[in-house]
Amino acid sequence: MTPITRSALLSSLQWRYATKIFDATKTIPEETWQALEEALVLTPSSYGLQPWRFIIVTDQELKQKLRAHSWNQAQVSDCSHYVVFATLSKMSEAEIDKFIAHTAKVRGVSPDTMAGYRGMMIKDIVHGPRGQSSHEWSARQAYIALGNFMTAAALLRVDTCPMEGFAPAEYDKILGLTPRGFTAAVCCAAGYRSESDKYAALPKVRFDLEHVVERI
Ligand SMILES: Cc1cc2nc3c(=O)[nH]c(=O)nc-3n(C[C@H](O)[C@H](O)[C@H](O)COP(=O)(O)O)c2cc1C
Repeated sequence: MTPITRSALLSSLQWRYATKIFDATKTIPEETWQALEEALVLTPSSYGLQPWRFIIVTDQELKQKLRAHSWNQAQVSDCSHYVVFATLSKMSEAEIDKFIAHTAKVRGVSPDTMAGYRGMMIKDIVHGPRGQSSHEWSARQAYIALGNFMTAAALLRVDTCPMEGFAPAEYDKILGLTPRGFTAAVCCAAGYRSESDKYAALPKVRFDLEHVVERI
């Protein structure tokens, strides 16, 4: 497979910006959206555990409800697809077993062959020190999905706005996440920029490469 060119990659990343005003009349075509869902699913995670659900909100009424708990940011209601990255509030042995069973099935091996791996994960992320804050560990995984999603979207010329400006507890209630053991970690609006969004033309504010990249 031919890789995309360096200039195609960098121009896509330059093209992407945190969209403030979406064109509410534009919808992401289904095939494009399906590819972005696949990109979400292909996100890597620690141990491969995928402690997430990607909740896709397109219903206008529901978007309005969420906007009320998102600092009234217009991106929530005006975007085409609104993604809530929900993560497990607590990692459990049952969750690890689900993953082991699935891996065994996909790779055609017995779950017993992964007993060591299972034990290692449980010792670390369920009962170990990291188990005490596994919701934070899960949220970190969600941010990898967020980055992956934004880059994939930019390559397909779909605009995004990552969103931390929302009330997770309210989202959890509205989306019924708490009884399922999930909580909203971060969100991302996706769609198409409005011509009136002046942010699209602003120069990117980044520290110089020499300042943030250290070759040693
Ligand atoms: C995790 C995260 C949360 C963010 N939350 C918001 C938000 O709630 N509302 C918003 O308008 N922008 C939000 N932003 C956008 C940032 O302000 C923006 O990405 C940053 O200023 C860099 O600009 P650029 O993305 O246009 O290059 C968020 C960005 C990230 C990565």
